[in-house]
Amino acid sequence: MRDVPVSEADLVLHRARLLTLAPLKDERPRTGAAAGDVGAVDDGWVASRDGVIVATGRGTAWERLELTPSATIVDCAGAVAMPGFVDAHTHLCYAGQRWDEFVTRRSGADYLAVLERGGGIHATVRATRETNDDDLCELVRRRIATAASLGTTTIEIKSGYGLEPAEELRQLRVIARAAKDATIDVSPTYLALHALPREHQGDRKTFLAEATRTVATVAGEGLAEAVDAFVEQGVFDTKEVRPLANAAREAGLAMTLHADQLNDVGATEFAARAKARSADHVANASSDGLRALARSGIPAVLLPGSAFFVGYAPPDARRFLAADVPVAIASDHNPGTSPLVGMPAAIALAVTLCGLTPHQAIVAATINGAHALGRGGRTGALVKGRRADVVVLGTDDERELAYGLGAPLVAAVYASGRLITGG
Ligand code: NIG
Ligand code: FE
Repeated sequence: MRDVPVSEADLVLHRARLLTLAPLKDERPRTGAAAGDVGAVDDGWVASRDGVIVATGRGTAWERLELTPSATIVDCAGAVAMPGFVDAHTHLCYAGQRWDEFVTRRSGADYLAVLERGGGIHATVRATRETNDDDLCELVRRRIATAASLGTTTIEIKSGYGLEPAEELRQLRVIARAAKDATIDVSPTYLALHALPREHQGDRKTFLAEATRTVATVAGEGLAEAVDAFVEQGVFDTKEVRPLANAAREAGLAMTLHADQLNDVGATEFAARAKARSADHVANASSDGLRALARSGIPAVLLPGSAFFVGYAPPDARRFLAADVPVAIASDHNPGTSPLVGMPAAIALAVTLCGLTPHQAIVAATINGAHALGRGGRTGALVKGRRADVVVLGTDDERELAYGLGAPLVAAVYASGRLITGG
């Protein structure tokens, strides 16, 4: 933090309760005592130029900044200004809804049994395959815009409702089109192994080989930053995913996993062995899995929305923090397990269901989420040199995010210094 800065700024937010999330020692994802340190500065300010933060400080020191002639000065008295949310795990490229499945699951139907019978993910696959590029792109655009209006400034988007490689590639191209005109940063992921396509029943090997081969095409066209797989009982096992992880490494893509969501299948340890970017869900991860993540410094991305909607025991965040695993949280937005929208709801559920404190949930939804997407040095903190991704909350206490479930707390959103919501 500089108190006597001299630099040109075209945007200044001042008189805020500023949550800087400034790095403490280094740029690693936060754990231990740092897991709940939001770097709060009362009467704080943040200034940016061309979408990049140039300085932060306290009081009126910002008045000594050189301002561009058309600079915007925003008085944030009574408000919190904090980094934009990083939603590190979503499946928002889909068509159709699953109302009937939702209702039957609420009355006891088992998620994996529905999938086994050709419903669940397969139902969304059918609806998505039937939707043309333009309509699907419009759905993705709208969902990105809704997430942004709720404070998300970086969002991961998975494919995964195509299953067949050609259809997965189509969906990744649709995501790329939607990302191009998005106001926020999009990180696309090739969810290569989500379910065995119905047309490949009895022919797993061919499908696995084709999905694995497709990684090179995805990388060649620059369609994804990471590759993902659903490692679960009756879905895919770690042995089947290993060649995919190798292909991702060879292609220069990161690996991430749906790991031990409903059952412990050793996927969390596997994620560590495969040097994954993150291990996600992990509600049933073993203690060995936690130790493996801690040793490698890999963040666990907790997804309380799916535990809430499916009704399984949510991941216990305290176990992860006690084992020194960095924790991130995300919405997991999808039409099956987690129809919740936006990060404020995910924060509230992470506190009530997973046992994070409100400040730990804010760290998990900002800087640790940025690390989970390989963007730890770019966003997630209000620090000089980072992107000016800022959320202004209509409250003077950020803990309300965890408390006022459903309250419209997001008053304004700036993505790369541009006002995209409110004002
Ligand atoms: O993150 N569990 C695997 N994938 C998604 C849900 C997909 C679906 O049911 O449509 C998840 O929970
Ligand atoms: Fe997911």
